Amino acid sequence: MKKFIFILCACLVVLFVVWLVLRFNKTNSNEVVYDGGYVASVADESIVIYDIDDLEAQAWEVIPQGGFDYIRGGAETENTMKRNEMAFDMVDIYPRVLTGVNEPDITTEILGIDISLPVIVAPAAAHGLAHVSAEAGSARGAAASGTIMSVSTYASSTLEQVAQAGEGAPQWFQLYLSKDDAANRNLIKTAEDLGYRAIILTVDAPVGGNRVSDARNNFKFPLAMPNVPKKSGKTKGQGIGAIFAAAQNELGPYDVMYVKSLTDLPVIVKGIQHPDDAEIAILAGADAIWVSNHGGRQLDGAPASFEVLGEIAERVNKRVPIIFDSGIRRGQHIFKAIAMGADVVAIGRPVIYGLALGGWRGVVSVFDYLKADLERVMWLAGTQNIDDIKNINLRKRCETKWCE
Ligand code: FNR
Ligand code: LAC
Repeated sequence: MKKFIFILCACLVVLFVVWLVLRFNKTNSNEVVYDGGYVASVADESIVIYDIDDLEAQAWEVIPQGGFDYIRGGAETENTMKRNEMAFDMVDIYPRVLTGVNEPDITTEILGIDISLPVIVAPAAAHGLAHVSAEAGSARGAAASGTIMSVSTYASSTLEQVAQAGEGAPQWFQLYLSKDDAANRNLIKTAEDLGYRAIILTVDAPVGGNRVSDARNNFKFPLAMPNVPKKSGKTKGQGIGAIFAAAQNELGPYDVMYVKSLTDLPVIVKGIQHPDDAEIAILAGADAIWVSNHGGRQLDGAPASFEVLGEIAERVNKRVPIIFDSGIRRGQHIFKAIAMGADVVAIGRPVIYGLALGGWRGVVSVFDYLKADLERVMWLAGTQNIDDIKNINLRKRCETKWCE
């Protein structure tokens, strides 16, 4: 009898230890399934990154096909999306030596916010497709990385959840204008009350780009977008085209002035790809310009975002700060964009891939990689700080449009 009781106790102890390990050693051993069987990652670990371009293939293993294709996808032929990264190879950084540079300083500021590196999180819809923590997870990662989190109107998390996860870290709210004035006012007021530091008005998506992979997949969002005004209709079970159609499709300079009239926060106009549009946005009151082709997801056949940055920066002529995105994947891209006229850059897909692969810790890993990579590039280019980069002349190859 004594022997039986001993064995029973031993078994109970073993079972308890196993439970403890499973309960507190959260890895992606289990998953969360949304309605309709969509499986979201619950990974919770730092990730080893040798090259950010590796993350896409790794994320493909984790994110279900419909969600992955929506995230990865560009418009139509995806040539503009591909050119976004290739365009950085059209200019060179001169290596410089004997400059006395030591431990480059990558910190900077944008719109009065100090950040640990000149890279912020671009607004992107439906982070819940990548991970169960959604934008709240991305916000925690951005906060831990000392940078700004931008959250989309089409986020899977509420503005409150994102603000709570960021625990006071700087956050911007990206607005897709609704047809409903009361809804616009309510969204902006909510963002202000929660401590968001700027409003991003995205103007390059009056309609969605031709998202061929979403059409082939007949992709519909398996989870809701809680910040979208109820009057705009359902979001869960809808495709992005229908969601865009429910928003305000006709946008003019008066809409920049309208948003400016609703808030004292800085208003950033996102999706500028032409110098004339930068001028129009500034004259309408924009506090910053966001040069972007939406990661190649809107007009296919457009230039790479980096190809138009220089002429836009020249026209802006330092009147307002410039944020740049589309194709940023490594330190040299960050360096070249700043040398070409951007004040800070933003990343979209790399954040979402990092989230899928490791949760908020995966997002931190992405920013840690970029910090180390940018420092290395600055050291080899003989630049001590971000202002030095702004004074750098890139070498422009004569087989490109910048032939001198
Ligand atoms: C986006 N982007 C975007 N932009 C925006 O203003 N509001 C949005 O809701 C979204 N949604 C969105 C979803 C997904 C899945 C992606 C990939 C992108 C565009 C985003 O802000 C940014 O411009 C690009 O992602 C930058 O390109 P990279 O870094 O993804 O190459
Ligand atoms: C997209 C929208 C949501 O690019 O901005 O999918």
